[in-house]
Amino acid sequence: MNVLILGSGGREHTLSWKIAQSDKVDKIYIAPGNAGTAVLGENVNLDAGNFESVAEFALGNDVDMIVVGPEAPLVGGIHDFFLENEKYRHIPVVGPVKRGAMLEGSKHFAKRFMMQNGIPTAAYKSFSKENFESACEFMRTMKKPYVLKADGLAAGKGVLIINDYDEAVQELDRMFSGKFGEAGKIVVVEEFLKGIELSVFIITDGEDYKILPEAKDYKRVGEKDTGLNTGGMGAVSPVPFADETFLKRVEIRIIKPTISGLKREGIKYKGFIYFGLMNVDGDPYVVEYNVRMGDPEAEVVIPRIKSDLMELLLGVAEGNLKKRKMDISGETVVTVMLVSGGYPGEYEKGKEIFNMDKTSGSIIFQAGTRTEDGRVISSGGRVLAISSFGSDLKDALKKSYANAEIIDFEGKYFRKDIGFDL
Ligand code: AMP
Ligand code: GLY
Repeated sequence: MNVLILGSGGREHTLSWKIAQSDKVDKIYIAPGNAGTAVLGENVNLDAGNFESVAEFALGNDVDMIVVGPEAPLVGGIHDFFLENEKYRHIPVVGPVKRGAMLEGSKHFAKRFMMQNGIPTAAYKSFSKENFESACEFMRTMKKPYVLKADGLAAGKGVLIINDYDEAVQELDRMFSGKFGEAGKIVVVEEFLKGIELSVFIITDGEDYKILPEAKDYKRVGEKDTGLNTGGMGAVSPVPFADETFLKRVEIRIIKPTISGLKREGIKYKGFIYFGLMNVDGDPYVVEYNVRMGDPEAEVVIPRIKSDLMELLLGVAEGNLKKRKMDISGETVVTVMLVSGGYPGEYEKGKEIFNMDKTSGSIIFQAGTRTEDGRVISSGGRVLAISSFGSDLKDALKKSYANAEIIDFEGKYFRKDIGFDL
């Protein structure tokens, strides 16, 4: 089989690494990929937003399956494009159709979906500019802090948590006046949930599902979860407080009603679902849905799948996931992100990365890298994810941190306290 993976980050390197291990797979194409994926397959310069060019490439290169890494092409309807075209319909796409992708693409849609399906989530109301006064009135009835969410995709920046009422009103006004462009035309105002966050992932063919290992990511740039939000500075799996009782609650209260809700709405969901959860005194609530794997969560979740990932992906494509086997490693996996100094603010790219060949005991997943004259050069804020297995958290972290010291590039920064709260 030939597989085309769309995306260019650490998540896509991890997917490529795992898919390349399958004896079912002959060739992997990654579009556009990075310096890490170039070693596992062939990077191709395709724009994932141009569905026709993706489809023509797939057709011309005997691609048997497309795995979509990031959310944007899914929210844009790449899967629908394949289904609607006779010429391309036979090529399965792993990733939901547009209506399914709205679980991530529209917070308003996701909240409505959860309410209708009895899925625990923070109390909320949605507002548009015309209802500014009612939005303020609603906030006055709520406890602090106020949570304001732009409805649409806002590159992870569309959620504001504000302590002061007057400031919240001001921000709401800014959102309606275009602070997040079209994404902020509708704003979800919701109750603040106090608890510990974690993420649970499933893969589904629309009928059945398999629960993948859970993970916790570290989003703030600074130690002890301080400073600006990033795309993720590290992750761990498993998450010790996600015990059997808690995960059973997640399955019964959240996963099952999500699958049956999608079916009821006539959405044939094929792909990953990422449940961003808050553990509030032992009870799980959904903070957000994502319609893809997380990044850097993929860098710890995928390595824990011991069996062939293609089994699961084919189960999704063929609608027989129930028959497929999955084995999960009981070991702990952690990842530590090496980022460019200054990230998530301004930072420099184009730095040569040294000593990757001197590391041992970890898997180096590349994120923002490219190849130039045989050298690996940084090309983004998040540069490398150093993933390690261990008998426990401490053991795994020791390996990642040893290699984080060995690898070098100008401006290298990483958090030294991944897993500090576990
Ligand atoms: P989202 O983009 O919806 O994941 O929100 C970004 C982050 O904001 C989440 O990862 C949480 O840390 C936080 N957050 C979002 N909604 C809430 C809420 N209702 N209560 C507490 N924290 C929240
Ligand atoms: N690590 C968070 C995300 O992938 O959205």
